[in-house]
Amino acid sequence: MSKSSKPTLTTEAGAPVADNQNSTSAGIGGPLLLQDQHLLEKLARFNRERIPERVVHARGSGAHGYFEVTDDVSAYTRAHFLGEVGRRTETFARFSTVADSLGGPDAARDPRGFALKFYTEEGNYDLVGNNTPVFFIKDPLKFPDFIHSQKRDPFTGKQEPDNVWDFWAHSPEATHQVTWLMGDRGIPASYRHMNGYGSHTYQWTNAEGEAFFVKYHFKTNQGIRCLSSEQAAELCGTDPNSHQTDLLQSIERGVFPSWTLYVQIMPAAEAADYRFNPFDLTKVWPHKDYPLQRVGRLVLDRNPDNVFAEVEQAAFSPNNFVPGIGPSPDKMLQGRLFAYADAHRYRLGVNHTQLPVNAPKATTASNYGRDGFMATNRYDRHAKNYEPNSYGGPVETGLPLSAPQPVSGYWGTHEAPAHTKDDDFFQAGELFRLMSAEEKDRLIANIAGGLAQVSREDVIEKNIAHFRAADPEYGRRVEEAVRELQEG
Ligand code: HEM
Repeated sequence: MSKSSKPTLTTEAGAPVADNQNSTSAGIGGPLLLQDQHLLEKLARFNRERIPERVVHARGSGAHGYFEVTDDVSAYTRAHFLGEVGRRTETFARFSTVADSLGGPDAARDPRGFALKFYTEEGNYDLVGNNTPVFFIKDPLKFPDFIHSQKRDPFTGKQEPDNVWDFWAHSPEATHQVTWLMGDRGIPASYRHMNGYGSHTYQWTNAEGEAFFVKYHFKTNQGIRCLSSEQAAELCGTDPNSHQTDLLQSIERGVFPSWTLYVQIMPAAEAADYRFNPFDLTKVWPHKDYPLQRVGRLVLDRNPDNVFAEVEQAAFSPNNFVPGIGPSPDKMLQGRLFAYADAHRYRLGVNHTQLPVNAPKATTASNYGRDGFMATNRYDRHAKNYEPNSYGGPVETGLPLSAPQPVSGYWGTHEAPAHTKDDDFFQAGELFRLMSAEEKDRLIANIAGGLAQVSREDVIEKNIAHFRAADPEYGRRVEEAVRELQEG
């Protein structure tokens, strides 16, 4: 019994703690004793509070909520959670910045992660996207180099414009995403005021086995709001946690952020002859070719009770599919199908799927995986840990998650695009031409502000050449603005 009506403080083994203010010492001013289990346990646990941060997207915020189907898409996918208008599925979302480490400021110019875990009755479905519909590169082999160029330099210990722009100078395919990033959308005002995109092309399969390729668009119902570079610079100093504060307080106030999900749907047979590679992550599908079709809405209505348990330990993996949804041949996506679960085994351990935020909620995992560090699952004493068995253990369905797709050609590294109309610049130019005069002014100023800090003239030239290839006016204006800054 404690001295008051409050519950008794205990050690981790559950034994009552007599004194939580004074360590046990030999005499009143003497050294401390090794027998003070409570002191040793507190200090040792404290030393182990941190786990490896995510190698990218380290800084983020999460919230719980649900996804509700508003429109019938059962003709395109047999995914149960999308199968009926009105059906609700518990969902967890984590938003993030990409390049900085834990503790980096929220209002940085950076893409934002938009990761969702749908706890469906057929298992957890993870959609791990960004707030941009495209990405910087199209082959996963380049991802570690790309990220090295954007994060801290191994010698200076800080992000270096030389590295950032050097990588882009060698990656013409990045021009489209760089145009997004340096434009207004590069600094969302908050996580609530940005869209989310699956970015990759995924495959849906309906009950008849027909296949479709799809792209996901989550449109914010709060409206898009962005910060200027100047506003963001100030906010990074005065409130580095601005996105976290905004999301937390909005949900605490009962103002629940929501997004409407739309998809673009391409019948699988149209992919081979489409005018560019529909699996190229550096490109969008024009809406006039594949219009947006509404599917449902995502609502976030509950903050995590414990950020470490629910947000830091959340593990999203693009290879968590459910029946009716599968991958496309997008090479980047294929690389990601490996990278995430591997990162989770390193960061959280082999049993990370047993943590409450990662475990299925609307069904139970039932397989023969056992043991490993921190295994907590309980099994019936008669359950076997091998398959096939004669004891009624779980068995396969024989139904592939998504329809098989044809492949052809030679195996090997293929440098040339499979589609003759592929081009690294056209859509970047389209995006530039879509912008208003003011948006263009800010885009040019942002790019010039970065490029003018680069020490190598050849790197500056190569980047300008990419913008010129996208649109002659784009290239000319970036060049003029960079020269002006260099001279001034
Ligand atoms: C996080 C790898 C491309 C969105 C991560 C993590 C890794 C990774 C290792 C950390 C995972 C963790 O520790 O939990 C890769 C690789 C890529 C790639 C190898 C390319 C081949 C992309 C793309 C997108 C994306 C194209 C968006 C379309 C995210 C998001 C997170 C993340 C949102 C944070 C997930 C969370 O909130 O826990 N990525 N990534 N990544 N990535 Fe990627």
